[in-house]
Amino acid sequence: MPHPSRFADLELSHPIIQAPMAGVSTPALAAAVSNAGGLGSLGIGASTVAQARDMIQATQSLTDRPFNVNVFCHAPAVRDAARESAWLRHLAPLFAEVGATPPFSLNEIYPSFLHDDAALAMLLETRPAVVSFHFGLPDAERLAALREAGIVLMATATNPAEAEAIARAGLDAIVAQGIEAGGHRGMFDPGAADERLSTAVLVRLLVRECTLPVIAAGGIMDGQGVRSMLDLGAVAAQLGTAFILTPESSANANYRAALQSQRAHRTRLTAVLSGRPARGMVNPLIEHGEIDGAPVPADYPVAYDAAKQLHAAEASRQSADYAAQWAGQGAPLARAMPAAELVRTLVAESCGQA
Ligand SMILES: Cc1cc2nc3c(=O)[nH]c(=O)nc-3n(C[C@H](O)[C@H](O)[C@H](O)COP(=O)(O)O)c2cc1C
Repeated sequence: MPHPSRFADLELSHPIIQAPMAGVSTPALAAAVSNAGGLGSLGIGASTVAQARDMIQATQSLTDRPFNVNVFCHAPAVRDAARESAWLRHLAPLFAEVGATPPFSLNEIYPSFLHDDAALAMLLETRPAVVSFHFGLPDAERLAALREAGIVLMATATNPAEAEAIARAGLDAIVAQGIEAGGHRGMFDPGAADERLSTAVLVRLLVRECTLPVIAAGGIMDGQGVRSMLDLGAVAAQLGTAFILTPESSANANYRAALQSQRAHRTRLTAVLSGRPARGMVNPLIEHGEIDGAPVPADYPVAYDAAKQLHAAEASRQSADYAAQWAGQGAPLARAMPAAELVRTLVAESCGQA
């Protein structure tokens, strides 16, 4: 291992991490979790640098405890005009249904951290205690700059090869994301073969094969789930879907209602919404995007532009049929309670006290 891990230096009171959730996690949520003794997280992957700075500073004003800031390290989109217009043509009937015309062209709606110097400078200036990476790793120079600023570094792995790359790059912890997980699958190369390992199997493999601390993510909804991951050798559990129904999240009323309905029982890993595999509650856009003979969606995050525009067009009619409502397989187990209470409940359950 190139550097000793500094994960333990965070001195978390509880082995519970609230997952970064771009568009759902907020300063209030991250601070509440950190103040309760876990590790709160912000997802800034889809934010501008100015929005991200504001979120980090707002969180710093709400807690003195460590929190995590997560960025997206995807390969920049491969632009392909023919593929993009075929995708728009395929979505045209859905746009028509909500009284809109499809856009003429699509955009890469946010840059990758791999080439975002302004985002790096902002992180070095605001210095959150932890920075985590999803979809890959930045280059050695960027990693060294963040490490020298005293920032603890973590990254998502969905298989042992990605975990090995994370260890080789000298990070402090590996987030082992199983196939159950809600939101985007953090695989480095979405075109590569995927063994779709469960959280339990992936954690066990990584605990056996890696010397870095392993954080379990995917399908963990209660303290019993946290306990089982600790028993498998994880140092902490990272929960996303479990925190969506907290009042501190920015999930809207439609999303909350869906998560508390029968729809929570049907999640699917699909590239239709954004161009990369991600798990969310099944909706008519996913079903239309996956029908027989459908074209390949535009590349990530270009396809996301189409989905977001479609949802914006329907939103004026108070409809959310086409909204991306990310959720993991454990979605029906999500509970509506304040974030600090959820952390306390998870701790009590994991100790067999609830
Ligand atoms: C709404 C939502 C948004 C997410 N956004 C991010 C993100 O911005 N960055 C990231 O690394 N992971 C993101 N994830 C994935 C989580 O980090 C984590 O892997 C996942 O939530 C674990 O599975 P669970 O939802 O079953 O707990 C997101 C998950 C959800 C549910």
